[in-house]
Amino acid sequence: MSVIKKAVFPVAGLGTRFLPVAKASPKEMLPIVDKPLIQYAAEEALSAGVTHLIFVTGRNKRSIEDHFDKAYELEADLERRNKTELLESVRNILPSNASCAYIRQPEALGLGHAVLCAKPAVGNEPFAVLLADDLFDATPTVLQQMMQVYNQQGHSVLGIQNVPREQTDRYGVIDAEPVGSGVYKVRGLVEKPAPKQAPSTLAIVGRYILTPRIFSCLEHIGRGAGGEYQLTDAIAALLEHEPVFGHEFTGKRYDCGSKFGYLQATVEYALRHPELKDRFREYLKNLEL
Ligand code: UTP
Repeated sequence: MSVIKKAVFPVAGLGTRFLPVAKASPKEMLPIVDKPLIQYAAEEALSAGVTHLIFVTGRNKRSIEDHFDKAYELEADLERRNKTELLESVRNILPSNASCAYIRQPEALGLGHAVLCAKPAVGNEPFAVLLADDLFDATPTVLQQMMQVYNQQGHSVLGIQNVPREQTDRYGVIDAEPVGSGVYKVRGLVEKPAPKQAPSTLAIVGRYILTPRIFSCLEHIGRGAGGEYQLTDAIAALLEHEPVFGHEFTGKRYDCGSKFGYLQATVEYALRHPELKDRFREYLKNLEL
């Protein structure tokens, strides 16, 4: 079984729920306190042993490239001012063994299409996909948990969350049988089913480990829900060739693609931030609601 060294970060969505802020900058650059969402996702990938980060970018790719690039002038400036801690925080965004590649998705035709754009950079090996607008607070990290399942099963693994039935129409939902603690063997998948039609309440969240066969499936699917090329449809096709597993993660998920989830993450991370937590807790207590 191959070791997973590559992770794809699709960051080319329109982010309509975050307009106007997502007009000139991808929503994945939104900060949770002082770090952008994409950095949390990159750190999670690195925690699971990934060394090649592949970003599928849209029209606003510059800020992401700049974020992971060396910032000579800023570093020299911070050094001159003896701002050692800040200097470390901008210098050590990625370890020296990590490399970044940027691929353009010419048009936002859907998550499935974005992943297919990464094919030349991924090649013929299994890889992870992380959607940075799903932020997880989990130890071990969600991708580390999923790697364990991948190492046991040797097949694709989807991150799964049990959601309230009234929310199934926001997710890809699996039909599956449990095969271990928090592990499911997938029988089928549906994108955004109405609560009454959903085969279960096990929803796919923004973490995937996929075998390279997914690319030929992506090449053959048509447009699905919302007129977009859906990754879920390609995974349904993949199931016809090989097993696919789901892993119900332990930890907390923040749906930072929605304003409410983004605000929840901001408040909770601020309440844990070493510099802010005491003042911020006091502030919230005294806030007249
Ligand atoms: P979303 O479903 O959250 O769509 O994409 P969106 O367009 O970004 O946001 P809304 O719904 O309009 O507010 C899930 C992930 O897939 C990426 C997004 O950047 C996000 O990480 N994506 C989506 C692409 O990279 N390309 C696409 O064509 C669509």
